[in-house]
Amino acid sequence: MNPETRLLHRKVPVAGAHPNVTPLFQCSSFFSDSEWFYTRKSNPNVDELEAAVRDVEGSAHAVAVATGMAALSAVLRLLRPGERLAANGLIYGCSYRLFADFCAQYGIGFDVLDFTDPAAVRAGIRPGTRLAIFETPTNPLLRTVPIEAVAREVHAAAPEALVVVDNTWATPLFQKPLELGADLCVVSATKFFSGHSDVMGGLVTTNRPDLAEEIRRIRFYGGSILDPHSAWLLRRSLQTFPLRMRRHAETFGEMAAHLRAHPRVRRVYVPDVDGRQLSAYGGILFVELDPALEPAVEAFMDSLRLFERGTSMASVVSSVAQPWSGSHLSMTEEEKRRAGIGKTLVRLCFGLEDPADLKADLTQALDRAGAALPAEVKA
Ligand SMILES: Cc1ncc(COP(=O)(O)O)c(C=O)c1O
Repeated sequence: MNPETRLLHRKVPVAGAHPNVTPLFQCSSFFSDSEWFYTRKSNPNVDELEAAVRDVEGSAHAVAVATGMAALSAVLRLLRPGERLAANGLIYGCSYRLFADFCAQYGIGFDVLDFTDPAAVRAGIRPGTRLAIFETPTNPLLRTVPIEAVAREVHAAAPEALVVVDNTWATPLFQKPLELGADLCVVSATKFFSGHSDVMGGLVTTNRPDLAEEIRRIRFYGGSILDPHSAWLLRRSLQTFPLRMRRHAETFGEMAAHLRAHPRVRRVYVPDVDGRQLSAYGGILFVELDPALEPAVEAFMDSLRLFERGTSMASVVSSVAQPWSGSHLSMTEEEKRRAGIGKTLVRLCFGLEDPADLKADLTQALDRAGAALPAEVKA
């Protein structure tokens, strides 16, 4: 059966009641004869969500936690003092801060490498490396980390190391890191899985039963399980997830071409959809605006009528943000500059609106921002 069909029909059995939709089990505990015993360990809504995620990803195991950051934190807890963590330099700002702080606090070595280059990985991975974590495409700039080549290099240099891919932006529909040699995947379900900017969640997936068991143990004792209501909402969102993602992907190329043609856009960053690692892509891109627009970046974002401001993204509604002051605010200016994040870098996320409306909105906002510049820098 097509996993997308199976995903729609996933249901945990509710003895005797036969509801068409699994109800919300808003309870913290169960009778001792139940297969669930305490919601901090598991819950029917969480189980159903995890089954649906396994369908999307094709993974053997999925573990749902409260947020994407909780998923990354659970993975970090596999580390022991004296071991090393290697991470790609281009990464979500809060992930970078979490890794740096966690390593400093627990006596773990932290190596920031360029994972887009397998030779740099070969040179940078030390025998004591236990975790190698990266996003692909990266946040920001959407660069590709070749999962298969990097996993090979990491495992050759440090056989005990676990390769962890943050698959939030590609999503498990379009990219399957576990099939390419990764040991663990992490997803912020707050983004495309939710798709409506109304719920938070995180997932850790793996094909290794020992790792799944360890992550479940960490979740139970660390208390980071997803709450039943969020699981229920996310499970509902997942029913339209493949449909939404295909629409995001359809819109994407058209929007990138439109932006490239505007004279106030210096560069458009899109990922490499090679058909092998990444089968399709949609939603988020980055634009480097004309440097003259630096004082007018706020004006540009404010002039957009169809794009929400703030950290909201990967939703049915479009959004705009400046990584410098938003997603990467927790990095120092120096760290941001080193990662190629300047003030004129803007993140756009296209929702499900009519692409013609989005194009018209972008054009009028770019034109307005240009018009608002002082005469000497307008040209
Ligand atoms: C790539 C990536 N990973 C992890 C996270 C963290 O997810 P959450 O906000 O659900 O904790 C984010 C959030 O933006 C992200 O972009």
